[in-house]
Amino acid sequence: MDNTTVQTLSDLETTADKFWNVSRQSANFINMLIKLMNAQNVLELGTSNGYSGLWIADALKETGGHLTTIEFWEKRQCIARENFQKCGVGDIITCKIGDACEVIKNEISAQFDLVFIDANKGEYVQYFEAVHPLVKKGGVILADNITSHAGKVQPFIDAITDIGCYQVQVLDLPDGMLMGYKYKEQ
Ligand SMILES: C[S@@+](CC[C@H](N)C(=O)[O-])C[C@H]1O[C@@H](n2cnc3c(N)ncnc32)[C@H](O)[C@@H]1O
Repeated sequence: MDNTTVQTLSDLETTADKFWNVSRQSANFINMLIKLMNAQNVLELGTSNGYSGLWIADALKETGGHLTTIEFWEKRQCIARENFQKCGVGDIITCKIGDACEVIKNEISAQFDLVFIDANKGEYVQYFEAVHPLVKKGGVILADNITSHAGKVQPFIDAITDIGCYQVQVLDLPDGMLMGYKYKEQ
């Protein structure tokens, strides 16, 4: 990781509560997983100010991959774009503005190695229904806030478990991170 990215991530951690950023441990895990999987195409729902996006992009620089990230709060997306440019990863990130489900339905048809769900906790099940067809066989869905927002995300947990093509585990990271490995097509 270059010095600008290290410094920017450290600066962003001082405002993590305000921008609802994922924990450093969880971001580090996503970064490692992308490199382990040699993921090429990653989708993120919930950009905020780009903290997790910077961790994802850092790994994608190594794999030669690309991140598409969706945010409906324009001010936050502007800040994220500035952070991506500052850290030299603007060219490997596509920022989409709008409601995650609408953007996926109308603008996204690619297949993804990894999808990171981190937008509205009450809408996780709708996000799952939207992204499931876009996850490659052998791909992964990660979702944050599984233990911190247990009640809200339960319909999502039920859906990804019951559909029968994901191996599912909740990881003991801050706020709880669900990992679903898509081992077969539906
Ligand atoms: C938990 S924060 C994302 C944090 C970010 N992944 C990080 O760790 O740096 C959730 C973000 O999702 C956005 N959001 C919530 N509902 C959304 C929706 N339906 N479509 C797009 N973005 C949404 C919020 O505005 C917020 O910035």
